[in-house]
Amino acid sequence: MTAPDANEDQPAYHLPVLLQESLEALAIRSDGVYVDCTFGGGGHSRGILQHLGPNGRLFAFDQDSDARRNLPDDPRITFLAHNFRHLTRMLRLHEAPPIDGLLADLGVSSHQFDAAERGFSFRFEGDLDMRMDRRQTLTAFDIVDTWSEQRLHKLFEQYGEVTNSKTLAKAIVAARGSVSLKTIANFKTALNSVVKGNPNKYFAQVFQALRIEVNDELGALKELLQQAPGLLSVGGRAAIITFHSLEDRLVKNFFKKGSFEDEDPSDPFGRTKATPLLKAITKKPVTPGETELRQNPRSRSAKLRIAQRV
Ligand SMILES: C[S@@+](CC[C@H](N)C(=O)[O-])C[C@H]1O[C@@H](n2cnc3c(N)ncnc32)[C@H](O)[C@@H]1O
Repeated sequence: MTAPDANEDQPAYHLPVLLQESLEALAIRSDGVYVDCTFGGGGHSRGILQHLGPNGRLFAFDQDSDARRNLPDDPRITFLAHNFRHLTRMLRLHEAPPIDGLLADLGVSSHQFDAAERGFSFRFEGDLDMRMDRRQTLTAFDIVDTWSEQRLHKLFEQYGEVTNSKTLAKAIVAARGSVSLKTIANFKTALNSVVKGNPNKYFAQVFQALRIEVNDELGALKELLQQAPGLLSVGGRAAIITFHSLEDRLVKNFFKKGSFEDEDPSDPFGRTKATPLLKAITKKPVTPGETELRQNPRSRSAKLRIAQRV
């Protein structure tokens, strides 16, 4: 798993990743109805709009109010400032018909990483915040300030793959007794003695774990995947771009099995199992080519998986 924060200098707001590949994956019909679950800088949305005719429609979600500023002046797009975990409810509210395609380009935007006051990047000074949706109250500081050592240990182990997560959790609990960990500078200074290996890589992993938890990224992704089959019309496409192995595994397994349940002990041969309604149309994920990797190093851990509603 590569944490996405070890790089510098990116252009304004966000450079869309795997753009052409995503548009091809959606096989856009000019009069179709599409959902961009992660509007961000709107790069993918603009691409979708270019393929839509006057009767096509696009619903774009982003839980970060900053994204709204990138909205094109186009009557075919409806912006929904909500978490995509509320997809079904929000689409119903807007009387959307069954959809022909859905795209999710997960994680945070370059804008979010690069805005110091958002607290996503260890390269800047600011509060340890990391909320994509600033209407929510839970911040990264709340987690490091209140969670038990045991819970912190598991968090850094599972979501950051931090090699010395137990030592790290212990150091956090010890430090917060004497110093406030509210700012990134304080947090990093307090942990200086436990950093293992390259500090940039280490802190990228630590920050990634906190970010995933603050925004319940895996929970939201699961809810999105579970809702997708019920929203897509037959033949409709789901295209999901992930940036770390935890997300990619969820998508891959959901496309394969149609659920997140492990084997049911009362049904070991899976006789009563429902057939998955989303069928993967590529075995392997699509990844960026050399040109994109050169132009946009942040694309390096991107994986696009595509499925079709059967
Ligand atoms: C990687 S960026 C998307 C960039 C976009 N595809 C573009 O071309 O500019 C991810 C965006 O999705 C938003 N986001 C992430 N998880 C979300 C969720 N669960 N619900 C709604 N928006 C989410 C973030 O706030 C961020 O703006």
